[in-house]
Amino acid sequence: MWSRIAVLASGRGSNLVALLDYLERSGGGDNGDARVALVVSDRSDAGALAEARARGIVGEPLADPARAEDELSMLLSRHRVDLVVLAGYLRLVPRRVVADFAGRIVNVHPALLPSFGGPGMYGDRVHRAVLASGARISGATVHAVTDEYDRGAILAQWPVPVFADDDPRTLAARVLRVEHLLLPRVVAALAAGRMRSDAQGSQRRFLSGQHGGEHFGFALDPYDAETLSHNIDVALAG
Ligand code: GRF
Repeated sequence: MWSRIAVLASGRGSNLVALLDYLERSGGGDNGDARVALVVSDRSDAGALAEARARGIVGEPLADPARAEDELSMLLSRHRVDLVVLAGYLRLVPRRVVADFAGRIVNVHPALLPSFGGPGMYGDRVHRAVLASGARISGATVHAVTDEYDRGAILAQWPVPVFADDDPRTLAARVLRVEHLLLPRVVAALAAGRMRSDAQGSQRRFLSGQHGGEHFGFALDPYDAETLSHNIDVALAG
């Protein structure tokens, strides 16, 4: 289905590493040929570029991030990319790229969209807003990318408990751990054609949170990653 993945990242790239590790462990996903062929960043000092290069993957900083439409289109074309993953990319994706990759471009957001998303909602600001709202559940969302921040069709979500003594740092860490489990599995499902990312996709999946068999029964922190991974696999298998 789709095998050549590009990752756009602005930061340290922990989601990129989670995806690389997952694809390596799974031997290239369902069809054995899914791989990250290109990493692009709007920041030349982004950790994600260093992570890519350390693994022999092309890491390209955008020369002019504010006017990146031509350059990004050229990079994606030159590397024959067929699936684009935003993992901590803080800029809007140029309109032409969103149009060229409609249905094949997704983002991971550290909250349960449509809540706590939109322009300026990234990093600590998201978790601060969740805590200020009194919400008892946050989570991770993987969604289709459009030319508006965080507004595309939701593909998958996974809930994360908010504890009374949480601060933005502790909540961010708990959500990030789930992102690292959810994003790779959704990308692999997309690459294999087991999931579609358009709003009309009949396969839109809202993953319900289950842990140890209890619906939203979150007693553990940190989660048992093995159980969580299994639950996500089961939910994605439909
Ligand atoms: C993640 O929390 C992601 O949800 C958000 O930006 C962060 C990226 O972190 N979009 P990393 O660079 O992947 O570690």
